[in-house]
Amino acid sequence: MEEFARKARSRQKLGNPPTAGRLEESFSKSGSFQTPKGVHDILPADHEYHTFIKKVIRHRCRQAGFRRISTPIFEFTELFKRSIGDGSDIVSKEMYTFEDKKGRSLTLKPESTAGVARSYIQNNMQALPQPVLLYYFEPHFRYDRPQKGRYRQFWQFGFEIIGENDPALDAQLIQLVRKIHEDLGIDGLFSLQLNTIGTPEARKNYMSVLEDYYAGKERSLCENCKERLHKNVLRLLDCKEEDCRILSELAPAMRDYLDQESIEFHEELKEYLDEIGISYVENPKLVRGLDYYTKTVFEFWDKEEGAQNAVGGGGRYDGLIELLGGHATPAVGYAGGIERLIANMKREKIRVPSKDELHVFVAQLGKEAKKKCLKLIDDLREAGLKTMGALGKGSVNIQLRLADKFNAPYTVLIGLTEVREGTAIIRDMKKGIQEHVKMEKVPERLVKLIGEKNLDKYSPGELLYS
Ligand code: HAM
Repeated sequence: MEEFARKARSRQKLGNPPTAGRLEESFSKSGSFQTPKGVHDILPADHEYHTFIKKVIRHRCRQAGFRRISTPIFEFTELFKRSIGDGSDIVSKEMYTFEDKKGRSLTLKPESTAGVARSYIQNNMQALPQPVLLYYFEPHFRYDRPQKGRYRQFWQFGFEIIGENDPALDAQLIQLVRKIHEDLGIDGLFSLQLNTIGTPEARKNYMSVLEDYYAGKERSLCENCKERLHKNVLRLLDCKEEDCRILSELAPAMRDYLDQESIEFHEELKEYLDEIGISYVENPKLVRGLDYYTKTVFEFWDKEEGAQNAVGGGGRYDGLIELLGGHATPAVGYAGGIERLIANMKREKIRVPSKDELHVFVAQLGKEAKKKCLKLIDDLREAGLKTMGALGKGSVNIQLRLADKFNAPYTVLIGLTEVREGTAIIRDMKKGIQEHVKMEKVPERLVKLIGEKNLDKYSPGELLYS
């Protein structure tokens, strides 16, 4: 491997084709492979957070009648272009697009709403009782500049409520997100930013007013906004650059150009939020970066960091299903970033209960003892005891040290004498005391020591046969 890396480096020094430079990126300084920039492994310690968050979401979704959906990791590029919009940052800069062997343009999903809307149409979900409530927990991909809280592969959980047009649903969706933040112990960290961006017709009108306003002011805009001016002028409103911010403060207000229906919808939503005690910040500059939104848009911002690293956002997309070839179907949804939730939990020093700790470590000496161990380990696991065995050839001392490192409170020792006598030694690792127990009584004794309530008796449920 080192040789391979060295060659890659020297090829690059010689100014060989760009692939040599990219190959170089795949090695760490010591010459071993590493992940591409912006993506990372989810190691066991972080998986404990992932699992916990997933369970919270699953529980809250089940309570509210949502069912889980997974759309493919890649879809036709056109689906995202049409849904999210050519002028959006996601489509214009951030998609992982490639051609397959037949020359079809495919894209790794940068978000799931487009795929879920496509699936709703393709699987004839309009025939189901409406609204259809779906949730997901999935990896997504955006070629963004990696930085804190911004990755090229990241996980999102999300909800889509499709088939009903009522602000009470927007309020319920927001309430669901708040419940999840509460369950994770981080609800107090975020402020709900709320806005309405009206119907596409009203927005189109406003956008031309906005373009007129910015005409002649291009030189004061940041490079990003100069580019967005004719592609996605609304995004100029939420730019964080100083000069752009001053210009956006003075820009004509969107509210003055919105349609009456959207304004009434928004007022009703606020009434519902007030009713269920959810506070919000009215943010007339919040526009979100995806073209499919209509009326309600909202984000959860870190109270300290503001718009930077929002933990999630969503809104209504009443036109998307029709735009993708379905019947006109209203919808509202939300997605939150898992890495950002975890970062907030860690910042607050919140740990999640770990179910990974072992109960028992089984050590053995000699082939005959090992044979007995295989059966015993299985019996212990069946009894609900989390058990690991050292099945290698190390001495008893080495195995005991290993047991210590795995942090199991009890070790079962089986040597030649124990095999002969049909017994085993149970050692309490903390107290350093041990007892001889008849082999067949070992599971029962350990269950007593560990305690019934601590056993791992998880069952996914009974299988049904039709
Ligand atoms: P979004 O605002 O693009 O919305 O993404 C939602 C959340 O995903 C963000 O608030 C953030 O927490 C997380 N996220 C986005 N990009 C990254 C990244 N590069 N690294 C880490 N986390 C990231 C949507 O995706 C819409 N589909 C939401 C929606 C659902 N609207 C209606 N239904």
